[in-house]
Amino acid sequence: MKYTLNSNNNPATDSQDCVVIPVFSDDKKVELSGAGKLLDKASSGKISSILDKGDFKATTADTLMLYDVTGVKTSRVLLVGCGKASEFESKTVNQVSQAASKVLQKTSINTVSCYLSDSISEEQKDTAITQTIIGFADNLYQLQDYKSKKKDVPSLSEICISLSNGFDAGAQTALDHGIAISEGMKLTRDLANHPGNVCTPTFIAETATNLANDYKNVDIDILEEADMEKLGMGSFLSVSKGSDEPGKMIILQYFGAKDKTGAIDKESQPIALVGKGVTFDTGGISLKPGANMDEMKFDMGGAAGMLGTLKACAEMQLDINVVVVLAAAENMPSARASKPGDIVTSMKGITIEVLNTDAEGRLVLCDALTYVGKFNPSIVIDAATLTGACIIALGHHISAVLSNDDNLANDLMDAGNTINDRAWRLPMGDDYKKQLKSSFADLGNIGGRAAGTITAACFLGEFTKDYKWAHLDIAGTAWSGKDATGRPVPLLSQFLINQANK
Ligand code: BES
Ligand code: MN
Ligand code: ZN
Repeated sequence: MKYTLNSNNNPATDSQDCVVIPVFSDDKKVELSGAGKLLDKASSGKISSILDKGDFKATTADTLMLYDVTGVKTSRVLLVGCGKASEFESKTVNQVSQAASKVLQKTSINTVSCYLSDSISEEQKDTAITQTIIGFADNLYQLQDYKSKKKDVPSLSEICISLSNGFDAGAQTALDHGIAISEGMKLTRDLANHPGNVCTPTFIAETATNLANDYKNVDIDILEEADMEKLGMGSFLSVSKGSDEPGKMIILQYFGAKDKTGAIDKESQPIALVGKGVTFDTGGISLKPGANMDEMKFDMGGAAGMLGTLKACAEMQLDINVVVVLAAAENMPSARASKPGDIVTSMKGITIEVLNTDAEGRLVLCDALTYVGKFNPSIVIDAATLTGACIIALGHHISAVLSNDDNLANDLMDAGNTINDRAWRLPMGDDYKKQLKSSFADLGNIGGRAAGTITAACFLGEFTKDYKWAHLDIAGTAWSGKDATGRPVPLLSQFLINQANK
């Protein structure tokens, strides 16, 4: 798909195959945007006479396709409802773009001129441009690799983003960011949607290697199990040893920070992104029930999200350094698997009693979180499909953020609000930490049923005391219930954009 900015700025004379026009509805009164008014004028009031009939209510994501409107060059005009103008936000742009995209993908058109960012406040305009692209790309996404009969590919090939009153300089950046973030989301969704027999730790390592080859300022290093043995990563290895698939610790470094002369500054402290990459979580010896166990192929959603975020960052060539560490392993029951009650020693030296082998995410992450210290990061963020409890708390709508730093937690939530990929902070603290007490080791790996998301974060917090750190529990948000969502790529990409602009 090609995304462009349209500088013609009059929907009546656009040369694409269709124009998409937002229509607002305030208290039963439907209202045309600037672009809509121009069209109405060109068609001698045809659009408003259709709206006056009252059939099209213009509630959010309503659509109405019109054909051969006299005075308008394109043969199709797609009206899309945007709800109340006063409540128009980036979430609405996303919903409306998805709705428009659903209608357009069924038509035979190739190109569209889209005025969804029209009639929006100046400061929201750039976000709306980014969000239009994310919305379209999100809807058009499909993974067809495993279907022997492929569905027809929609003929839609170019989406021009248009504004009836022109663009300022920020628009091109907003467009580029939207494209980059969509590409990152696609990589994340592909990885997470691949089945567990394809997407193994080795497959993630190969995907990461390909990404590093695509960008000259991205380096890769992969730790094999023997390397991890030497580093004392007993916690990570206690998970991977139960599987025939070798575990991998995958490290990518992106160098974008510039010194005063404009040269790449490799010494500038990186932002670290650590991802849980459990390519299949059976629960291990603490075996999960059979129902819906297939969903546990998504348990590498954190790693996939971090890789997608790095891709977006490299596409945008942000002026920051980033280090990504992916802890990739398969959690299987076998004669070599860890047993409940086993005690292991982490890289940090903290001993852990593995009371439940199904709490494996924190076991692979804690060694990755210790390892990343060697890069002297300014900030460490991890993302993980860590707890079922997070889905109970926040559902599939909002990610949980837990942090030892108020500013970092707020910056993450702000980024999520901007780009419609929200996160909500949960507390931490000693009362919760006590739940992790072990009779025999320094820490137990579970804290009981109560506050499962918080005790999991408290476990990780024991390994991140030296950093400004935040943990994103994306158990509910990384997939929709039927497929991967590409989250938290938008949130983290926006966070990195904001950091680069600081
Ligand atoms: N990968 C799961 C968490 C999960 C569950 C993600 C459902 C998405 C949907 C994680 O490894 C896990 O099994 N967590 C346990 C922790 C418990 C044993 C303390 C859980 O949430 O039940
Ligand atoms: Mn588990
Ligand atoms: Zn898991």
